[in-house]
Amino acid sequence: MHLTAEQIAAFQRDGYLFFPGHFSAAEIALLNAEVPALYARREAYNVREKGSDAVRTNFAAHMYSAPFARLGRHPRMVLPVEELLGEKLYMHQFKINGKMAFEGDVWQWHQDYGTWKADDLMPTERAMNIAVFLDDVNEFNGPLMFIPGSHRTGVLEAGHDLTTTSYPLWTIDHALISQLVERAGGKQGGIVSPKGPAGSMIVFHSCLVHASTSNLSPWNRVSVYLSLCAVSNHIRRFKRPEYIAHRQFEAIECLADDCLLARSPVTLPWAKGMPGSALETSPDPIQ
Ligand code: SIN
Ligand code: MN
Repeated sequence: MHLTAEQIAAFQRDGYLFFPGHFSAAEIALLNAEVPALYARREAYNVREKGSDAVRTNFAAHMYSAPFARLGRHPRMVLPVEELLGEKLYMHQFKINGKMAFEGDVWQWHQDYGTWKADDLMPTERAMNIAVFLDDVNEFNGPLMFIPGSHRTGVLEAGHDLTTTSYPLWTIDHALISQLVERAGGKQGGIVSPKGPAGSMIVFHSCLVHASTSNLSPWNRVSVYLSLCAVSNHIRRFKRPEYIAHRQFEAIECLADDCLLARSPVTLPWAKGMPGSALETSPDPIQ
Protein backbone atom coordinates (compact mmCIF):
# COMPACT_ATOMS: atom_id res chain seq x y z
CA MET A 1 0.00 0.00 0.00
CA HIS A 2 1.40 3.39 -1.00
CA LEU A 3 0.11 6.85 -0.20
CA THR A 4 -0.62 9.16 -3.12
CA ALA A 5 1.03 12.59 -3.47
CA GLU A 6 -2.41 14.10 -2.63
CA GLN A 7 -2.64 12.06 0.58
CA ILE A 8 0.86 13.07 1.66
CA ALA A 9 0.04 16.74 0.98
CA ALA A 10 -3.24 16.45 2.90
CA PHE A 11 -1.43 14.86 5.83
CA GLN A 12 1.15 17.64 5.90
CA ARG A 13 -1.60 20.28 5.77
CA ASP A 14 -4.19 18.77 8.14
CA GLY A 15 -2.16 16.38 10.33
CA TYR A 16 -4.36 13.34 9.68
CA LEU A 17 -5.65 10.96 7.02
CA PHE A 18 -8.92 9.02 7.16
CA PHE A 19 -9.42 5.64 5.46
CA PRO A 20 -13.11 4.60 5.72
CA GLY A 21 -13.72 0.83 5.63
CA HIS A 22 -9.99 0.00 5.55
CA PHE A 23 -10.50 -3.42 7.19
CA SER A 24 -13.31 -5.82 6.24
CA ALA A 25 -16.19 -6.87 8.50
CA ALA A 26 -14.69 -10.40 8.72
CA GLU A 27 -11.31 -9.01 9.86
CA ILE A 28 -12.91 -6.75 12.46
CA ALA A 29 -15.12 -9.60 13.76
CA LEU A 30 -11.97 -11.62 14.62
CA LEU A 31 -10.61 -8.70 16.66
CA ASN A 32 -13.92 -7.85 18.33
CA ALA A 33 -14.41 -11.45 19.45
CA GLU A 34 -11.32 -11.13 21.68
CA VAL A 35 -12.23 -7.90 23.46
CA PRO A 36 -14.68 -9.06 26.18
CA ALA A 37 -12.24 -11.68 27.52
CA LEU A 38 -9.35 -9.18 27.48
CA TYR A 39 -11.44 -6.55 29.28
CA ALA A 40 -12.55 -9.12 31.90
CA ARG A 41 -8.98 -9.69 33.08
CA ARG A 42 -8.08 -8.17 36.46
CA GLU A 43 -4.66 -6.95 35.40
CA ALA A 44 -2.76 -3.68 35.73
CA TYR A 45 -2.93 -3.29 31.96
CA ASN A 46 -6.73 -2.83 32.12
CA VAL A 47 -7.36 0.76 33.24
CA ARG A 48 -11.00 1.18 34.28
CA GLU A 49 -13.08 4.36 34.14
CA LYS A 50 -13.19 6.50 37.25
CA GLY A 51 -15.78 5.03 39.66
CA SER A 52 -16.84 2.32 37.19
CA ASP A 53 -15.92 -1.20 36.19
CA ALA A 54 -15.97 -0.33 32.47
CA VAL A 55 -12.54 -0.60 30.83
CA ARG A 56 -11.25 2.74 29.56
CA THR A 57 -8.05 1.38 28.07
CA ASN A 58 -6.53 -2.06 27.68
CA PHE A 59 -2.79 -1.80 27.09
CA ALA A 60 -0.35 -4.04 25.23
CA ALA A 61 -2.74 -6.70 23.84
CA HIS A 62 -0.26 -7.28 21.00
CA MET A 63 1.98 -8.95 23.65
CA TYR A 64 -0.59 -11.57 24.72
CA SER A 65 -3.42 -11.82 22.15
CA ALA A 66 -2.73 -13.37 18.72
CA PRO A 67 -5.29 -11.37 16.67
CA PHE A 68 -3.99 -8.09 18.12
CA ALA A 69 -0.36 -9.17 17.65
CA ARG A 70 -1.22 -9.64 13.95
CA LEU A 71 -2.87 -6.21 13.81
CA GLY A 72 0.28 -4.67 15.32
CA ARG A 73 2.28 -6.01 12.37
CA HIS A 74 -0.34 -5.37 9.70
CA PRO A 75 1.01 -3.77 6.50
CA ARG A 76 -2.21 -1.77 6.04
CA MET A 77 -1.41 -0.03 9.34
CA VAL A 78 2.37 0.06 9.52
CA LEU A 79 3.38 0.87 5.91
CA PRO A 80 1.59 4.25 5.59
CA VAL A 81 3.37 5.46 8.72
CA GLU A 82 6.72 4.07 7.54
CA GLU A 83 6.18 6.02 4.34
CA LEU A 84 5.29 9.25 6.16
CA LEU A 85 8.24 9.05 8.58
CA GLY A 86 10.72 7.52 6.09
CA GLU A 87 12.10 5.08 8.64
CA LYS A 88 11.43 1.68 10.20
CA LEU A 89 9.17 1.80 13.28
CA TYR A 90 8.81 0.18 16.68
CA MET A 91 5.68 -0.10 18.83
CA HIS A 92 5.73 2.61 21.47
CA GLN A 93 2.19 1.98 22.73
CA PHE A 94 -0.71 -0.33 21.89
CA LYS A 95 -4.15 0.22 23.34
CA ILE A 96 -7.77 -0.82 22.93
CA ASN A 97 -9.89 2.08 24.15
CA GLY A 98 -13.37 1.09 25.27
CA LYS A 99 -15.42 4.31 25.36
CA MET A 100 -18.20 1.98 26.42
CA ALA A 101 -21.91 2.75 26.00
CA PHE A 102 -23.16 5.15 28.73
CA GLU A 103 -19.85 4.85 30.66
CA GLY A 104 -17.02 5.98 28.37
CA ASP A 105 -15.45 9.12 29.81
CA VAL A 106 -13.88 12.12 28.07
CA TRP A 107 -10.35 12.49 26.71
CA GLN A 108 -9.31 16.08 27.37
CA TRP A 109 -7.67 18.24 24.68
CA HIS A 110 -4.07 17.12 24.27
CA GLN A 111 -1.20 16.24 21.95
CA ASP A 112 0.14 12.71 22.38
CA TYR A 113 3.71 13.84 21.85
CA GLY A 114 3.29 16.15 24.87
CA THR A 115 2.99 13.08 27.11
CA TRP A 116 5.64 11.05 25.29
CA LYS A 117 8.13 13.92 25.61
CA ALA A 118 7.36 14.85 29.22
CA ASP A 119 7.07 11.34 30.64
CA ASP A 120 9.10 9.10 28.34
CA LEU A 121 11.78 11.54 27.07
CA MET A 122 11.01 10.73 23.45
CA PRO A 123 13.49 13.01 21.63
CA THR A 124 11.32 14.36 18.76
CA GLU A 125 7.78 14.08 17.38
CA ARG A 126 8.84 11.40 14.82
CA ALA A 127 6.06 9.09 16.02
CA MET A 128 2.50 8.66 14.89
CA ASN A 129 -0.87 7.31 15.96
CA ILE A 130 -3.14 5.01 14.01
CA ALA A 131 -6.68 4.28 15.13
CA VAL A 132 -8.84 1.42 13.86
CA PHE A 133 -12.54 1.43 14.68
CA LEU A 134 -13.84 -1.89 16.04
CA ASP A 135 -17.34 -0.36 16.25
CA ASP A 136 -19.15 2.06 13.98
CA VAL A 137 -18.28 5.61 15.07
CA ASN A 138 -21.01 8.24 14.85
CA GLU A 139 -21.67 11.70 16.29
CA PHE A 140 -23.21 10.18 19.42
CA ASN A 141 -20.63 7.72 20.74
CA GLY A 142 -17.73 10.09 21.41
CA PRO A 143 -15.80 10.32 18.13
CA LEU A 144 -12.27 11.69 18.13
CA MET A 145 -12.16 15.45 17.46
CA PHE A 146 -9.17 17.07 15.74
CA ILE A 147 -8.11 20.67 15.22
CA PRO A 148 -6.86 20.44 11.61
CA GLY A 149 -3.35 21.80 11.08
CA SER A 150 -2.66 22.10 14.82
CA HIS A 151 0.31 19.71 14.48
CA ARG A 152 2.17 22.54 12.73
CA THR A 153 2.32 24.54 15.98
CA GLY A 154 4.84 22.05 17.43
CA VAL A 155 4.76 21.08 21.09
CA LEU A 156 2.32 23.24 23.07
CA GLU A 157 2.42 24.08 26.74
CA ALA A 158 0.52 21.49 28.77
CA GLY A 159 -0.40 20.77 32.37
CA HIS A 160 -0.44 17.34 33.99
CA ASP A 161 -4.10 16.50 34.72
CA LEU A 162 -4.24 13.74 37.32
CA THR A 163 -7.85 14.15 38.40
CA THR A 164 -10.37 14.61 35.55
CA THR A 165 -10.37 10.95 34.50
CA SER A 166 -8.78 7.72 35.73
CA TYR A 167 -5.81 8.24 33.39
CA PRO A 168 -3.10 10.95 33.83
CA LEU A 169 -2.68 13.13 30.75
CA TRP A 170 -0.75 16.27 29.77
CA THR A 171 -3.59 18.56 28.66
CA ILE A 172 -3.86 21.95 26.93
CA ASP A 173 -5.71 24.85 28.51
CA HIS A 174 -9.01 26.05 27.10
CA ALA A 175 -7.87 29.55 26.09
CA LEU A 176 -5.22 28.07 23.80
CA ILE A 177 -7.71 25.53 22.38
CA SER A 178 -10.10 28.41 21.55
CA GLN A 179 -7.30 30.23 19.68
CA LEU A 180 -6.28 27.12 17.75
CA VAL A 181 -9.86 26.33 16.73
CA GLU A 182 -10.40 29.94 15.61
CA ARG A 183 -7.17 29.86 13.58
CA ALA A 184 -8.25 26.57 11.95
CA GLY A 185 -11.53 28.10 10.70
CA GLY A 186 -13.73 28.44 13.79
CA LYS A 187 -17.20 27.07 13.13
CA GLN A 188 -16.17 26.40 9.51
CA GLY A 189 -13.89 23.40 9.97
CA GLY A 190 -11.94 24.43 13.08
CA ILE A 191 -12.89 21.07 14.60
CA VAL A 192 -13.39 17.88 12.58
CA SER A 193 -14.33 14.37 13.67
CA PRO A 194 -13.87 11.52 11.21
CA LYS A 195 -16.77 9.08 11.55
CA GLY A 196 -17.49 5.83 9.73
CA PRO A 197 -18.09 2.11 9.86
CA ALA A 198 -16.13 -0.39 11.92
CA GLY A 199 -12.91 -1.15 10.06
CA SER A 200 -12.16 2.51 9.27
CA MET A 201 -8.66 3.78 10.07
CA ILE A 202 -7.22 7.18 11.00
CA VAL A 203 -3.52 8.07 10.87
CA PHE A 204 -2.69 11.18 12.87
CA HIS A 205 0.41 13.22 13.71
CA SER A 206 1.71 13.03 17.27
CA CYS A 207 1.40 16.83 17.65
CA LEU A 208 -2.18 17.01 16.31
CA VAL A 209 -4.40 18.44 19.06
CA HIS A 210 -7.32 16.09 19.78
CA ALA A 211 -9.99 15.17 22.32
CA SER A 212 -13.24 13.21 22.61
CA THR A 213 -16.41 13.69 24.63
CA SER A 214 -18.06 11.09 26.85
CA ASN A 215 -20.25 8.37 25.37
CA LEU A 216 -23.86 8.77 26.55
CA SER A 217 -25.17 6.68 23.66
CA PRO A 218 -26.17 3.00 23.90
CA TRP A 219 -23.36 2.10 21.45
CA ASN A 220 -19.81 1.12 22.43
CA ARG A 221 -16.98 2.91 20.62
CA VAL A 222 -14.13 0.40 20.91
CA SER A 223 -11.05 1.50 18.93
CA VAL A 224 -7.50 0.19 18.72
CA TYR A 225 -4.61 2.67 18.75
CA LEU A 226 -1.09 1.88 17.64
CA SER A 227 1.54 4.49 18.51
CA LEU A 228 4.45 3.85 16.18
CA CYS A 229 7.79 5.58 16.72
CA ALA A 230 10.77 5.86 14.37
CA VAL A 231 13.40 3.43 15.68
CA SER A 232 16.05 6.18 15.99
CA ASN A 233 13.62 8.23 18.09
CA HIS A 234 13.11 5.65 20.86
CA ILE A 235 12.25 6.79 24.37
CA ARG A 236 15.08 7.62 26.77
CA ARG A 237 13.35 7.03 30.11
CA PHE A 238 11.24 4.24 31.66
CA LYS A 239 9.19 6.41 34.01
CA ARG A 240 5.96 4.64 33.03
CA PRO A 241 5.36 0.87 33.22
CA GLU A 242 6.36 -1.13 30.18
CA TYR A 243 2.77 -2.05 29.30
CA ILE A 244 2.15 1.69 28.70
CA ALA A 245 5.46 2.74 27.09
CA HIS A 246 7.32 -0.16 25.48
CA ARG A 247 11.05 -0.79 25.91
CA GLN A 248 11.88 -3.04 22.94
CA PHE A 249 13.02 -0.88 20.06
CA GLU A 250 13.37 -3.51 17.31
CA ALA A 251 11.82 -2.57 13.96
CA ILE A 252 8.39 -4.06 13.23
CA GLU A 253 8.44 -6.60 10.40
CA CYS A 254 5.06 -6.67 8.65
CA LEU A 255 3.09 -9.86 8.08
CA ALA A 256 1.14 -10.59 4.89
CA ASP A 257 -1.95 -8.54 4.06
CA ASP A 258 -4.23 -11.51 4.81
CA CYS A 259 -2.61 -12.23 8.22
CA LEU A 260 -5.79 -11.68 10.25
CA LEU A 261 -8.00 -14.10 8.31
CA ALA A 262 -5.12 -16.53 7.66
CA ARG A 263 -4.30 -16.55 11.38
CA SER A 264 -0.59 -16.12 10.63
CA PRO A 265 1.68 -17.42 13.41
CA VAL A 266 2.89 -14.75 15.85
CA THR A 267 5.00 -14.83 18.99
CA LEU A 268 3.33 -13.63 22.20
CA PRO A 269 6.00 -12.66 24.75
CA TRP A 270 3.47 -12.12 27.55
CA ALA A 271 1.23 -15.13 26.78
CA LYS A 272 1.94 -16.64 30.20
CA GLY A 273 1.58 -13.30 32.00
CA MET A 274 3.32 -9.95 32.15
CA PRO A 275 6.82 -10.12 33.70
CA GLY A 276 7.30 -8.27 36.98
CA SER A 277 9.96 -6.12 35.29
CA ALA A 278 7.21 -4.51 33.17
CA LEU A 279 5.97 -2.78 36.33
CA GLU A 280 9.39 -1.43 37.33
CA THR A 281 9.89 2.26 36.60
CA SER A 282 12.65 4.81 37.07
CA PRO A 283 12.80 8.62 37.09
CA ASP A 284 16.31 8.51 35.55
CA PRO A 285 17.17 8.53 31.84
CA ILE A 286 18.37 5.18 30.44
CA GLN A 287 22.12 4.77 29.79
C1 SIN B 1 -6.37 9.25 22.97
O1 SIN B 1 -6.33 10.42 22.73
O2 SIN B 1 -5.31 8.63 23.22
C2 SIN B 1 -7.66 8.50 22.95
C3 SIN B 1 -8.81 9.31 22.58
C4 SIN B 1 -10.04 8.51 22.39
O3 SIN B 1 -9.98 7.26 22.39
O4 SIN B 1 -11.09 9.10 22.19
MN1 MN C 1 -4.25 10.99 22.39
